[in-house]
Amino acid sequence: MTTDPQGIATAPVARARVRGLGASKVREVANAGFGRSDVKRFWFGEGDQPTPLFIREAAMAALADGRTFYTHNHGAADLRAALQAYLERLHGRAFDIDSVSVSSAGVSALMVTMQAILDPGDRVVAVTPVWPNLTEIPAILGAEVVRVGLEPRDGRWTLDLDRLLAAITPGTRLLLINSPNNPTGWTLPAAARAPLLEHCRRLGVWILTDDVYERVAFGEAAAAGVVTAPSLLALADPSDRLVSTNSFSKAWRMTGWRLGWIVAPLGLREDLGKLLEYNTSCAPDFVQAAGVVALEQGEASVEALRLEMAARRDRVVAGLKRLPGVEATRADGGLYAFFRIDGREDSVAVAKRLIAEAGLGLAPGAAFGPEGEGWLRWCFATSEAAIDDGLGRLERWLG
Ligand SMILES: Cc1ncc(COP(=O)(O)O)c(C=O)c1O
Repeated sequence: MTTDPQGIATAPVARARVRGLGASKVREVANAGFGRSDVKRFWFGEGDQPTPLFIREAAMAALADGRTFYTHNHGAADLRAALQAYLERLHGRAFDIDSVSVSSAGVSALMVTMQAILDPGDRVVAVTPVWPNLTEIPAILGAEVVRVGLEPRDGRWTLDLDRLLAAITPGTRLLLINSPNNPTGWTLPAAARAPLLEHCRRLGVWILTDDVYERVAFGEAAAAGVVTAPSLLALADPSDRLVSTNSFSKAWRMTGWRLGWIVAPLGLREDLGKLLEYNTSCAPDFVQAAGVVALEQGEASVEALRLEMAARRDRVVAGLKRLPGVEATRADGGLYAFFRIDGREDSVAVAKRLIAEAGLGLAPGAAFGPEGEGWLRWCFATSEAAIDDGLGRLERWLG
């Protein structure tokens, strides 16, 4: 029996901070629809296609070769070299190979990075609404999150840069940016990067950019060859307090593989290595081997996915805009359409009713913070037929 300092028996439960974490509202809604074969599912952030065959075959070959052992905490040498070459191709500047660490996908990259940077009580500024892991990890670590809300304007979500700069005060420890943003599709404009970087440099504030959707970019794109969303990594110096976390999940359709990476200043390397050890030790070696092939041979499939997602975005947004009382914003990147229905403000209640009454599975905007309340998120990484079916269901429900 556990006792408190006075020797009084207490219930066997987690510490208060952890008990205070919000449960996922996407899960709350999805759980209401699981087991129902008549529900069309657009609630989670993944597509309906498996990983491209050449990547699956690379993992099978690596297993046959016996790549079944632990690797270095920072990742297998071949994957780190492939990541270095990839980063240099993507961002047009040199990267030290020791600035690159392999992680167990984007989720763990975010956790390890924030464990390295945040102390209890630290002030964290986050651009919101945003995928909840970004704001819940600081909460797990005892840091305080100040939210700077994006706003819908002229059919797109936009950032008031001056408001963000004013929120990043002396003493702020970390700025969190996810661009392209889940759930709104907002993408950090290229012109905002220099003032942001300058401001954070001057105040000694860390920046953590979650770049998992950078290759699914529809707006301003790099002119040369490979397309990517405007990246702070392209502008930064190696000595900047800038960490980029990334993942194979989205652009290479590898959600179930749990493979990602971190780009961080060299000063963080040794301590990141310890945290990687204490969290996961390393990603599976045969998965890392498949990551090498994904990077070296995957450009055509990444570009095909990007074009496909741009077309799906257009299809969903055009379909939504035709419906009475529906306001749909246009994503500049990512996998999601974000929209609202006039007079329906409680997004969890609406999402649950849509499942029960229309067989339509969407994520409630409130899952991404108060700025998302009243909105619904539709993941469009599915077939056109599924999208048309979903739009038909929504139209009949509204009618
Ligand atoms: C913004 C954002 N970051 C990170 C992730 C993490 O993905 P993974 O852990 O599969 O790399 C997701 C997944 O949905 C996401 O939306």
